[in-house]
Amino acid sequence: MLRLTRRSFTLGLLVLACACKGESKGSGPAEEGGKKGRFVIGMSQCNLGEPWRVQMNADIAAAAKEHPEIEVIFKDAQNDTLKQRAHVEELASAKVDVLLVSPKEAQPLTEPIGKAFDAGIPVIVLDRAVLGERFTTFIGADNKKIGRAAGEWVKKVLGGKGKVVELKGLMTSTPGQDRSAGFREAIAGSEIAIVFEADMKWLEPEARKEMDSALARLPKIDLVYAHNDPGAHGAYLAARAAGREKEMKFVGIDALPHEGVSYVAQGILDATFQYPTGGREAVETALRIRKGEKVPKTITLGSRRFTKDDVQKGGEIIE
Ligand code: FRU
Repeated sequence: MLRLTRRSFTLGLLVLACACKGESKGSGPAEEGGKKGRFVIGMSQCNLGEPWRVQMNADIAAAAKEHPEIEVIFKDAQNDTLKQRAHVEELASAKVDVLLVSPKEAQPLTEPIGKAFDAGIPVIVLDRAVLGERFTTFIGADNKKIGRAAGEWVKKVLGGKGKVVELKGLMTSTPGQDRSAGFREAIAGSEIAIVFEADMKWLEPEARKEMDSALARLPKIDLVYAHNDPGAHGAYLAARAAGREKEMKFVGIDALPHEGVSYVAQGILDATFQYPTGGREAVETALRIRKGEKVPKTITLGSRRFTKDDVQKGGEIIE
């Protein structure tokens, strides 16, 4: 009850703030009298060092371009959590109309996002989650389901038996945690053993380094499960440098057309699981919020699996 009251109050304030902002820029508040006002979306991206995030920003920009009233302010935290916290605070105090955040880590971004939300700014959290409920909506694919689908596929291609290296995404981020948990759930009870595991923090050079250690330690590896395609590719490069890439299979996640999907088509990776960026959906959801529509607390995006057998026809939907 208290929450509802406070929320209506802060939203009221936001409307006032928008109106003032519009007037000072010489245009009316959003949609007033059929006239289109400026609609400012602030986007806090955790880094742009990875192709998937470049794609997310490109998807946001392309969707926004279809609506001339939208202006997007992009911030790149360069993989620095403190910098991203500062960006979220900065965009919130600039009173953007909607705040998008793709957080580097769950815990440290929870408070600044919660504060912006409590101040009445609609907040869309993208891809990596935060703790608790102090945001408007979360958009992303189901990482546990993707991890489970990867585990099921691995179980099938290895005939229920084998030695697996798991190269994890940053374990302080939710996709890393969920991709690991889902995978382990799927292989539980089989004779598949995770013989080496390491946190490669989503980064190809880290994955390559960790894979060098795995190769040095283990005389036989049947498969590498990496939480993203850069990780799987790093592992492949390490195995190739050791002359052992044919000994094992490589599985990744993301399936960008020019990255993971192309690796599968070239026979570098054996499978990749799509992780949609949600950039377009974020802009569409921001527009729904602007119209005053109630949006669900979680918007779950679908995923596809790509292997050499189906890559040419666009992969298979994960049920
Ligand atoms: C990019 C990335 C993707 C991965 C996603 C998880 O930073 O590492 O490769 O799927 O983040 O949040």
